[in-house]
Amino acid sequence: MSETGFRERVFSGVQPSGNLTLGNYLGAIRRFVEMQESGKETIYCVVDLHAITVWQDPEKLDRATRELTAGFLAAGLDPDRSILFNQSQVPAHAELAWIFNCVARMGWLNRMTQFKDKAGKNRENASVGLFVYPNLMAADILAYHATHVPVGEDQKQHLELTRDIAAKFNHDFADRIAALGLGKGDEGGFFPLPEPVIEGAATRVMSLRDGTKKMSKSDPSDMSRINLVDSDETIARKIRKAKTDPEPLPSEPAGLEGRPEAKNLVNILAALEGKSPAAVLAEHGGKPFSAFKPVLAEAIIAEIGPIRDRMAEILDGPAEIDRILAEGAERAEAIAGPIVDQVHDIVGFVRSRR
Ligand code: TYM
Repeated sequence: MSETGFRERVFSGVQPSGNLTLGNYLGAIRRFVEMQESGKETIYCVVDLHAITVWQDPEKLDRATRELTAGFLAAGLDPDRSILFNQSQVPAHAELAWIFNCVARMGWLNRMTQFKDKAGKNRENASVGLFVYPNLMAADILAYHATHVPVGEDQKQHLELTRDIAAKFNHDFADRIAALGLGKGDEGGFFPLPEPVIEGAATRVMSLRDGTKKMSKSDPSDMSRINLVDSDETIARKIRKAKTDPEPLPSEPAGLEGRPEAKNLVNILAALEGKSPAAVLAEHGGKPFSAFKPVLAEAIIAEIGPIRDRMAEILDGPAEIDRILAEGAERAEAIAGPIVDQVHDIVGFVRSRR
């Protein structure tokens, strides 16, 4: 039980929209594996409904879904200990998202920076799904009454919106929730206010070509990112060519200010070695990048190489991947289905079938 009276439950999701990057791995997936060891119930979702908010070639989406699932498994997620599934197999997500479309306010969504970034200048031509994307994300989390959500820094605003939606729903329907005896915890709300878990040295891994931009699977330059499927040689080359400045590394974190590329490379090594950036600089301060980069490349290869190889083996058996997703979806549905049924009761829908 968490302090708020809700059972401690972890939920997070990753979009199957292209190659997984080192950013996804260090910012999210590696944390998912750690949380699997935490004793809390863990639920991880391949969010295919989110992916189609921008065009996805249907011939490639199924492959991307299986690849991401293979990435989860290869990184150490265990389908016996965590629930692993793809979002579209559990209707509760889309159902609750509709109700949240009617709870969230236009003004809240208008403030979402990720929509502005993704829609770019051509907002009129963005899909409506892209605009209401954060409501679906809130539904993903709240359909499970999840209390903890491990994510990278870029998802923080969406998590704040999730909490706002939960709080507004609890408030708007407070009398009904109490009348039905469905309130939980000190506040008597139906939904918990989930905590973002944004921790470690690599909550925002930056592009290798521009230290002020996030490392992203959608960046047009492949040299900007390390993909989980990159060969050892490719990883070494990308790090060798990564943008830096002419100064040697400082001995203390304060010396990284105004040096975004240097800061990024130090943070990546710190995350890989499970150290603080200060500890990395205590060891490598004063070195030129020509000496630091090979150390970094080796650390990335040591971590990513085995995952990449295991991913390829797992992908050889797509039927087994599909079986894992189907079983995960059944377990997910068993949790989310009854919660969404209760939402129907709270909202006042007639419910005679379930
Ligand atoms: P997505 O698919 O863009 O990214 C998946 C996870 O990887 C993290 N991440 C990063 N972390 C550090 N540095 C980076 N450069 C970097 N790039 C990506 C993201 O923060 C994320 O944790 N909206 C979400 C998916 C989602 C979700 C959810 C997450 C849908 N429903 C419910 C949590 C709970 C997204 O687009 O992630």
